[in-house]
Amino acid sequence: MHSFIELAKIFEDKFNTRHFPLHTTTLYDPAQYILQLGGKRVRPVCVLMGNELFAEIIPDAFHAATAIELFHNFSLIHDDIMDKAPMRRGMETVHQKYGESTALLAGDVMFVRAYEYLNKIEVNNLQKVLHLFNETAAAVCEGQQLDMDFEKRATVSLDEYVGMITLKTSVLLAASLQLGAILGGAGEGNQQHLYEFGKNLGIAFQVQDDYLDVFGDPEKFGKQVGGDILSNKKTFLQIYVMENASAEQLTVLQSLMQENAPDKVERVTTIFRDCKVDDWAKKLKDRYLQTALQHLEDTAVTSGRKKPLMDLAGYLIQRES
Ligand code: IPE
Ligand code: IPE
Ligand code: MG
Ligand code: MG
Ligand code: MG
Repeated sequence: MHSFIELAKIFEDKFNTRHFPLHTTTLYDPAQYILQLGGKRVRPVCVLMGNELFAEIIPDAFHAATAIELFHNFSLIHDDIMDKAPMRRGMETVHQKYGESTALLAGDVMFVRAYEYLNKIEVNNLQKVLHLFNETAAAVCEGQQLDMDFEKRATVSLDEYVGMITLKTSVLLAASLQLGAILGGAGEGNQQHLYEFGKNLGIAFQVQDDYLDVFGDPEKFGKQVGGDILSNKKTFLQIYVMENASAEQLTVLQSLMQENAPDKVERVTTIFRDCKVDDWAKKLKDRYLQTALQHLEDTAVTSGRKKPLMDLAGYLIQRES
């Protein structure tokens, strides 16, 4: 069994190559640019861990892991356009550096490249793998659309928020684990438990992402702190505060949401802090973590094999970047 750090290194060594042709560099260099900025490589490691939970890691798991990381990076390029984000992984975003049209195409061609890696997978697993991958990619699009729709709404319920982040973020973690499990020869029941583990962990992961967007250390976070506040994102922080703030705080928040005052991020952050959103974040993450761990417990393999996934869960909800 390998730890997260070991698997991330093994994956990185294989992934750290040029994935695109050497011609048409005005398209392919921007695509390569974001890949070599690194990232935590959580999703490909999930594929490998899902595989290793049941069997020795097989070469097809690396093909699936590569496809998943390419899909993830494609979604980040497009997400940064949608979110008007200037920074990613501590560097300029693709659209900021190369322009929006190139960023759109670099994302598209990366998505296409992902299918080329999937196409290397043994034919007996391919249909299942493609179906899961495609269902997941469609769900991410749905989640991203809801995320934008919610920006324009005055209020969003916690259930609606959880539904949205499940689609935009957590199904990809869940599917990564299930892909690994399929390739490891797991039965349906185990595949489903692992999927649910990933889904609940993914919700906690996005809760942490939303928390870091406000309270992250800019040095470690690698993205613009306060970006979600600037674009009136409906995050669990915003939802909790809208339901728990004093009348006075609410008036201030509502007027700040109407126009982008120069001190908007600072003032909204202060209100979030005063409403003790960090206690709430902890409760929310713990709730989903517990559900995730229950599904891991219900997965029918010996408990010693589960340690890397348990450690991964702990790391993902405490992470600072
Ligand atoms: C960022 O994902 C997008 C979200 C779903 C929150 P990560 O935090 O895994 O980004 P990288 O790949 O490590 O940069
Ligand atoms: C992104 O959510 C989810 C996808 C990329 C599909 P965010 O918009 O919160 O991700 P970051 O914070 O930009 O990484
Ligand atoms: Mg974003
Ligand atoms: Mg977004
Ligand atoms: Mg975010």
